[in-house]
Amino acid sequence: MTGKTTVIVGFGHVARNAYLPLLAKSDTRVKVVDTSEDARADATRIGLDALAELPPAAPGDQAIILSPIPSHLTLAEAAVAHGYHVLVEKPPAPTARTWLDLCARARARGLAVAGAPFTASGRSIETIRRLWGDGSLGQITDVRVDFAKTGPYVNGAVEPRRAWFLGPGAGPARDFGPYPLTLLVGLFGPLQQVAWEVDDTPEAGHVLTGSFSVEGTSVPLHADFRYAEPRGAPPVVITGSRGRLVLDSEMVDGPLLETPPAPGHTPSAVPRSKYRLALDRFEHLITDEAALLTHQHLVGEVLNVLHKLDSPVGDAR
Ligand SMILES: NC(=O)c1ccc[n+]([C@@H]2O[C@H](COP(=O)([O-])OP(=O)(O)OC[C@H]3O[C@@H](n4cnc5c(N)ncnc54)[C@H](O)[C@@H]3O)[C@@H](O)[C@H]2O)c1
Repeated sequence: MTGKTTVIVGFGHVARNAYLPLLAKSDTRVKVVDTSEDARADATRIGLDALAELPPAAPGDQAIILSPIPSHLTLAEAAVAHGYHVLVEKPPAPTARTWLDLCARARARGLAVAGAPFTASGRSIETIRRLWGDGSLGQITDVRVDFAKTGPYVNGAVEPRRAWFLGPGAGPARDFGPYPLTLLVGLFGPLQQVAWEVDDTPEAGHVLTGSFSVEGTSVPLHADFRYAEPRGAPPVVITGSRGRLVLDSEMVDGPLLETPPAPGHTPSAVPRSKYRLALDRFEHLITDEAALLTHQHLVGEVLNVLHKLDSPVGDAR
């Protein structure tokens, strides 16, 4: 053990099933902070220290914020104030400004703040960059996202303690939009136009119409995020004048289904999960300030898109 402590803030579904199994295999001591007595009791039962409030950090300690989306910013601010490096699940803040302010405050204290997901870092995006760069895709003409996931629904119902997924400041675009948006903005740069349609049917849906400026040409983006049964096909389709790429942006190392031939692209023997990548990138960003700044800027651009959900009629950036 390194003596470093990782505090999981919010011991719910993703903490228990995704991050804890990875942290348990690492050399960090794990503690849990949760406002729910039940969640703390569950953590204690498996031998973890469970607290209602964040303890002060020792140098090098880190906090991973895995609480409901609307609480991310406040909890990340508290973690920085307590002296932690912070990894926040998606999206980390409601606006780019509040996010970048938090990042600057952390930097002034010698602390790093990173926001999941890291879909601009996996093998999928590296391969797309290469195919695009070597001309295999031709000129990019169109980008489509059709992302349906069951989200908090289990057998058609949502447990009261997870109702926040459908409440203000959450919903499908904030929940899983960051996966494709981080990848696409990482590839093509900021969106030039953003308009959202928000529907409040039982299949709550958020539909984004926008455009990228790619090599001086406007490339349309149509993205549909919905709590519904997954529709089978991988959700992201990037069309170029010479071929098409079809991928699942949550699968950070592929597979990449592609029509242009991709010599040299061999899927990783052991593809990393998005959570493994998040922990690895976080570890790296704590030590690489230039990469951290680039990452924080990209997260800010994604937040600029999601923030428009609050005023869906506008279309200017
Ligand atoms: N569920 C998934 O598959 C999934 C996947 C990737 C990322 N995420 C992200 O992870 C985060 C958590 O999702 P989840 O599905 O685990 O949610 P969840 O509702 O299962 O768990 C949230 C936990 O946070 C606790 N909590 C609430 N307010 C808190 C506070 N102020 N301080 C400390 N703890 C608090 C709750 O008691 C609960 O234990 C969200 O940001 C979500 O977008 C979820």
